[in-house]
Amino acid sequence: MASSKNNTMVFLFLLVTLLIGSSSAQLSTNFYSKSCPKLYQTIKSTVQSAINKETRMGASLLRLFFHDCFVNGCDGSLLLDDTSSFTGEKRAAPNVNSVRGFEVIDNIKSAVEKACPGIVSCADILAVTARDSVVILGGPNWNVKLGRRDARTASQGAANSSIPAPTFNLNRLISSFSAVGLSTKDMVALSGAHTIGQARCTTFRARIYNETNNIDSTFARTRQNSCPRNSGSGDNNLAPLDLQTPSKFDNNYFKNLVNKKGLLHSDQQLFNGGSADSIVRSYINNPSSFNSDFVTAMIKMGDIRPLTGSNGEIRKNCRRRN
Ligand code: HEM
Ligand SMILES: *[C@@H]1O[C@H](CO)[C@@H](O)[C@H](O)[C@H]1NC(C)=O
Ligand SMILES: *[C@@H]1O[C@H](CO)[C@@H](O)[C@H](O)[C@H]1NC(C)=O
Repeated sequence: MASSKNNTMVFLFLLVTLLIGSSSAQLSTNFYSKSCPKLYQTIKSTVQSAINKETRMGASLLRLFFHDCFVNGCDGSLLLDDTSSFTGEKRAAPNVNSVRGFEVIDNIKSAVEKACPGIVSCADILAVTARDSVVILGGPNWNVKLGRRDARTASQGAANSSIPAPTFNLNRLISSFSAVGLSTKDMVALSGAHTIGQARCTTFRARIYNETNNIDSTFARTRQNSCPRNSGSGDNNLAPLDLQTPSKFDNNYFKNLVNKKGLLHSDQQLFNGGSADSIVRSYINNPSSFNSDFVTAMIKMGDIRPLTGSNGEIRKNCRRRN
């Protein structure tokens, strides 16, 4: 009796382990090594020429991966154009007039299709492109897990509700990341992506005009110079997320936070007397711990609910299902 009960327990334990592990069990770093040996060089050279043309593109490409993975997993759904049967994610609130780089992804996909037709998913292209962008702009390198397949549909509603907003306070940031299995440390490390790229006035206007406690007043005035108070005027004017080195992937973003010079409300929430303060300080004191936590968190983010096996498809054109 006792032993059959034990066996049942062992069986249940194994089953649960299998179910929990299976979400990313099929991703691997050598997934295309036989079927598309030129994959990495093909992607890297296209990313490099896009960044040579416009440095900011590296930031825009990194962000695409985040906005794909947070919405029903890393499945390339962000890349789908609207169709008569569904409204895609491109015009969702966090994305409209904001996410960019789709033409670069198209160029990469064409080059990859030429090298190995019908093999590599758009979801995987986003993962490699994000890594290459970080490396080219001076950040850490890592091996990207691959084997994701592409969604056949997209969800504007899920994009509206799953991508965190710049108005969020610390608790909401933490819960939005924990909803996809990412810890507070992952959240702080990944926010370090704001060491590169730009934001529009409309995303930080309330912070530079209405926040008083946790913003450097000289910094606020400087930002006000190119971001008018009234909404509707200058909404798309840009400012760097990292005021020191917006084209270099480094830890200056965290130094800005300690100096109350975070651009977004959500940025400054990471250093505002709460539980994330100590993580921010550790990334200032030890830049290599930022790099390694960022890599760990990027890999975890890339593991969010991929389509594998016979689920989804390998799109021919990233903008539409086959
Ligand atoms: C923690 C929650 C986050 C919030 C609230 C947030 C919010 C924002 C906002 C409002 C912008 C400016 C968009 C615009 O003005 O059009 C932005 C830009 C950016 N975000 Fe985030 N973000 C977050 C996390 C992340 C993560 C996890 C990544 C990547 C790992 C990331 C990468 C970027 C990059 C690179 C840019 C600049 C894009 C460009 O210049 O085109 N963000 N983010
Ligand atoms: C998503 O947000 C956009 C912009 O605020 C809104 O127009 C749209 O109706 C929302 N879509 C869904 C399905 O909630
Ligand atoms: C600042 O706060 C005031 C009063 O709550 C509000 O009317 C105004 O719209 C806010 N301004 C911005 C830029 O958010």
